[in-house]
Amino acid sequence: MSGLTYSSYLQLDKLLSMQEPRTSDTADREVVLAEHFFIVAHQASEIWLKQILADLLAATDALRPDYGNSDADLSVEYLDRAGRLLGLLHDQLVALEKMPLRYFAEFRPYLGTASGAQSQQFHQLDELLGDDERPEGLYAAFEAYTVAQGMSVGSVCRLGSSAGVLHRVAEGLIDVGSGFWRWKIAHLTMISGMLGEQRGTAGSSGVGYIASRIRLPFPQLRQLRGDVHEALVPTGTPN
Ligand code: HEM
Repeated sequence: MSGLTYSSYLQLDKLLSMQEPRTSDTADREVVLAEHFFIVAHQASEIWLKQILADLLAATDALRPDYGNSDADLSVEYLDRAGRLLGLLHDQLVALEKMPLRYFAEFRPYLGTASGAQSQQFHQLDELLGDDERPEGLYAAFEAYTVAQGMSVGSVCRLGSSAGVLHRVAEGLIDVGSGFWRWKIAHLTMISGMLGEQRGTAGSSGVGYIASRIRLPFPQLRQLRGDVHEALVPTGTPN
């Protein structure tokens, strides 16, 4: 361990040499700095995505009986952290809104066909959160765990805090899903301010395409939470 330093532990030489604006040789300092900012925001997003995915996979595994000792409290811990980190991911976009449009317009042609649409980690996250039908998904693991405890997700929703840790997992899932949804909405509003009617670098229609991609995470859980209202409406309540 001797000789280990902050810089060598974090491999800063490697990390800090990876921001290479393509406009470096040709453009004004303002344009190069704007592109640098754009690269940093994307790279930071990918690093946070890596942690979020790892945490959500751990949260899923902690609910699987076949994975050794299933532990719903541990799952809650991971879900809470992932929820917080999705807030950081969202903040990268909020910061990026401070990139002056005129500089963005100048370096954008240098992006070629590169696009966030090619982010593999993002698509993994989308699948983990968006599709309740996949047996390997987060919601399916929660549902199976709930059934193994002799309950149903619907009864967890109705019972609320008296369902104990199962309720806390359900709340964690809603927080994570809403955090991801918030990111998607912020991305949509940011690009509509920056692109207007321009097409995306991957060739999509841009704003219209991104709007069409926004789905609510964990639809089954939201449906079951909605059902609670009907189950609890007292008879004779005015419409
Ligand atoms: C100036 C900033 C940005 C602009 C103008 C922008 C624009 C776009 C556009 C137009 C698309 C649609 C695909 C295409 O045709 O290219 C897209 C997709 C996407 N972008 Fe961005 N983006 C920006 C920042 C970011 C950042 C910081 C991230 C973080 C990783 C990101 C991640 C994504 C992802 C994941 C998709 C695919 C979304 C989906 O399939 O639902 N973008 N972006």
